[in-house]
Amino acid sequence: MVKQRELNGQNDLLLDVQGLKTWFYTRDGVVKAVDGVSLQLRRGEILGLVGESGSGKSVTGFSIMGLVGERGKVHADRMMFDGYDLTQASAEQMRSLRGNRLAMIFQDPMMTLNPTLRIDTQMIEAVQAHEKVSRRAARDRSLEVLRMVGIPAPEARLKAYPHHLSGGMRQRIAIAIALLNSPKLIIADEPTTALDVTIQGQILYEVQKLCREMGTALIWITHDLALVSGLADRMAVMYAGHIVESTSTAALIERPMHPYTHGLMASIPSLGTRGQPLFQIPGSTPSLLNLPAGCAFRSRCYRADAQCAHAPSLQAVGEDHLVSCWHSGEQT
Ligand SMILES: Nc1ncnc2c1ncn2[C@@H]1O[C@H](COP(=O)(O)OP(=O)(O)O)[C@@H](O)[C@H]1O
Ligand SMILES: [Mg+2]
Repeated sequence: MVKQRELNGQNDLLLDVQGLKTWFYTRDGVVKAVDGVSLQLRRGEILGLVGESGSGKSVTGFSIMGLVGERGKVHADRMMFDGYDLTQASAEQMRSLRGNRLAMIFQDPMMTLNPTLRIDTQMIEAVQAHEKVSRRAARDRSLEVLRMVGIPAPEARLKAYPHHLSGGMRQRIAIAIALLNSPKLIIADEPTTALDVTIQGQILYEVQKLCREMGTALIWITHDLALVSGLADRMAVMYAGHIVESTSTAALIERPMHPYTHGLMASIPSLGTRGQPLFQIPGSTPSLLNLPAGCAFRSRCYRADAQCAHAPSLQAVGEDHLVSCWHSGEQT
């Protein structure tokens, strides 16, 4: 695969995805899980990709990683990562990028870990798959990353099998494996959702710190806007296969423009709302199978009118603030 970084002259841009569509052809019809998503990420930048369950966040991550199964068709107008054109990459080339420059942390650490192998075997293999180094050096590197993610007694952990470890410990090891080869980009797909709240916070903090130290860019996928707003530089809000709003975290928190983002923010508990019933966005996420035309949020939206029968597109509403809503300029 030819590296094109020198040609496009945008050294700062690590990931540039334009018009990503990932559709699943099922017996019941076409599921447009991702339907025209564009994302850009600079080197070392942390992006929070948020939205309710079923909005297409994971499929977006899988599409970038080249992990969409056979039934899914991935199309993008552009998908450049660190100078590589991912739209042209073969399965073999994607495999060599994954676990090396590009890593993913899954919600379930057993997607990364092999239950039948000791941790040391798995980590050493993960290093040696991408680099010609001795077993000894690979083991030393494994110990180093285990320490980096705050694993006590890492020597002992190396000899363990996954089933010897707690859920939080397994996820830390999966994170350590993602970090092994110093990737340029990590896509973390709700990696703390299954864990205790205290462990969630610790892991979030540690991953953020490590990414900052190593200059690794991060896409943190979550349904929890409050959680990721403490971590991300930028946010992208996803709804029914589309990004409906994207801007800096500060702007999103201070001036959310899309009614869906308003709804997500209003449903976050805070000291001010203590004792009061929490706001809930009425209705539920639509099925992405045969989604009707127009704005997908309109059946749940307090601002919807006749215009919303036509699909809005992402428009700039300020510097570095994109919103896909006919009514984004109106006062709440
Ligand atoms: N392999 C698949 N076949 C058919 N539909 C799928 C497949 N994977 C995901 N989907 C559908 O795509 C939509 C988006 O899924 P997903 O990206 O997992 O949502 P999220 O991560 O935001 O919860 C869902 O409606 C889901 O049912
Ligand atoms: Mg998901």
